[in-house]
Amino acid sequence: MASRKILLNGKRVAAEYQAIGSGDSETSEALLYWLRERFGQQGPRFGCGVSQCGACTVLLDDVPIRSCTRQLHTVDDNAEIRTLDGLSGKRPHPLQREFVELQAGQCAFCANGMIMGSLGWIEGRITAGNHEVPSEAEIEDFLSGATPNGQGNYICRCGTHTRIVAAIRSAAKEMVR
Ligand code: FES
Ligand code: FES
Repeated sequence: MASRKILLNGKRVAAEYQAIGSGDSETSEALLYWLRERFGQQGPRFGCGVSQCGACTVLLDDVPIRSCTRQLHTVDDNAEIRTLDGLSGKRPHPLQREFVELQAGQCAFCANGMIMGSLGWIEGRITAGNHEVPSEAEIEDFLSGATPNGQGNYICRCGTHTRIVAAIRSAAKEMVR
């Protein structure tokens, strides 16, 4: 057994995980299972399991990643992970609020990826000094994976992308202030 310490939604946690092999041949369990089964995180979900849909997205050191294929041994000790479970404080985060108010989901299975992915994307723009509200076209490019860093590609199987784009844009207006 190997172990990892992480900062999970602001709280220091540690747990063991299964690892097989060593060096270049090392493999280990996926971060998604570890977060859900050891730490009760219910935001990140198993959708496709092969890095295609985004349902399992979490922020690793502020960068959206696909936790279904991210093996634990590749996560640095003391890395910071944020999940949807830790997003709201006393009030819902603007993204959460706008997804509800604009009814940006039917089954909402994709909502975790849409919210956490756009959170990391918008925060990244702000950190880079871009305080512009993203246009609908920019949000569509982000969701379709057309951004330069390739972090996008978030799939909604119910086809509510129009409302999702509107919810992200509405929340971004508050986030960039
Ligand atoms: S479940 Fe991870 S990308 Fe689909
Ligand atoms: S609302 Fe059902 S997958 Fe997006």
